[in-house]
Amino acid sequence: MTNPIITRVIPAIRMLTSTAAIKVVRFDQRSELVAVEDEEDLRAISFIKKGSGILVVDETIDPTEILDDLTVKLSAWSTSNNNQPDYILLKGIGLIAIADNAYDLDVLLGASPKELKNINGRVQQKIILVTGGAQGFGGGIAELLYAQGANVVIADLNEQTGTAMADALNSNNQTNQAFFTPVNVSNAESVELMIAATVKHFGGLDAIISNAGILRAGGLDEMTPETFALMTDVNYNGYFLCAKYASVVMKAQSKYKENYFTDIIQINSKSGLKGSNRNFAYAGGKFGGIGLTQSFAMELMPNKIKVNSICPGNFFEGPLWSDPEKGLFVQYLRAGKVPGAKEIEDVKAFYEAQVPAGRGCRVIDVVRAIFYVIEQEYETGQAIPVTGGQNMLN
Ligand SMILES: NC(=O)c1ccc[n+]([C@@H]2O[C@H](COP(=O)([O-])OP(=O)(O)OC[C@H]3O[C@@H](n4cnc5c(N)ncnc54)[C@H](O)[C@@H]3O)[C@@H](O)[C@H]2O)c1
Repeated sequence: MTNPIITRVIPAIRMLTSTAAIKVVRFDQRSELVAVEDEEDLRAISFIKKGSGILVVDETIDPTEILDDLTVKLSAWSTSNNNQPDYILLKGIGLIAIADNAYDLDVLLGASPKELKNINGRVQQKIILVTGGAQGFGGGIAELLYAQGANVVIADLNEQTGTAMADALNSNNQTNQAFFTPVNVSNAESVELMIAATVKHFGGLDAIISNAGILRAGGLDEMTPETFALMTDVNYNGYFLCAKYASVVMKAQSKYKENYFTDIIQINSKSGLKGSNRNFAYAGGKFGGIGLTQSFAMELMPNKIKVNSICPGNFFEGPLWSDPEKGLFVQYLRAGKVPGAKEIEDVKAFYEAQVPAGRGCRVIDVVRAIFYVIEQEYETGQAIPVTGGQNMLN
């Protein structure tokens, strides 16, 4: 089980210090910091900012005691200093840096200052984790949320593409940051570590986008039990694990800040709303995801955690459909699935014609639905179609 200092104490500190704008927080356990005895020792460390505010909390391993002690001490500290501390030293445990943005956290922990842009966007300084964020819908979602000022955690099985995505976002020189953490969403321990890495790096979690998903089509004759189990593990169980471990941190936050809403958002599919011929392993997992969404929504609303699914139509421009070697367009062309189709363009036109809007779903269409869900306080347990009219609710 992950250290409760990470799942409970750090998110609480973020909320307790977010008296004006929402803060970000970083937990640093470098050995020189764990060994610090008192404020004087800490100020002697070269990178600690001159004149910064420091609060020291005595060593204890019990998170409830730490939190009780902290709540009283923080309130006294901020009343007498008319501000919040820049650092909280949990003696023998580590140092917590507190700032208005992720870049300022870097500086508080030793990075050299540079000129960066502060983005005043729709999700400014929120901490948003995107599973499967290395490419496809997830990559595009991470990119657009970062552009709107979010601190984005890209969590993916593919370390190379995920790290490259985070580096590319950070090269925009903004005060909000992207951070990569590896994950296999179908493994409980891995998901727990992903959430812990997020909290250590940014201090909490405002929204998790459960987007990682796989598709292996096939009818009953072709589908093996192993492939069915793999798809269920990633698409269905993975969503449960993300909600389970994310909600621990979200609950810790809502306990320490009144009316602080957070979001669990599943990227579902139009196949979660209507059966999909010879694609039941995918459709079944996605239908099940909506059952989870409705049930989590009832359980978590008292904690101000909204839970919604977004059900996109086909993302024709993404790798699943457009990859020149493995994409569905090429596969369907080779398999002769579209009668009379000679080129990829013919296959694409066939599928586009099934959408009243005449085109496939794009990342921006999904991100607009994400903004709606995050900005709305009075909506939970929904499955929101973003299908250009291909699926209509009844
Ligand atoms: N592409 C579409 O047409 C479409 C339409 C509707 C819904 N969706 C849904 O959108 C989501 C993303 O789909 P996409 O088409 O962008 O997929 P994609 O294959 O382009 O990207 C998926 C990402 O998830 C990662 N991933 C796969 N298994 C993982 C695991 N076990 N743990 C962590 N990461 C894992 C991959 O490495 C990859 O980076 C899926 O949930 C999918 O069902 C896709």
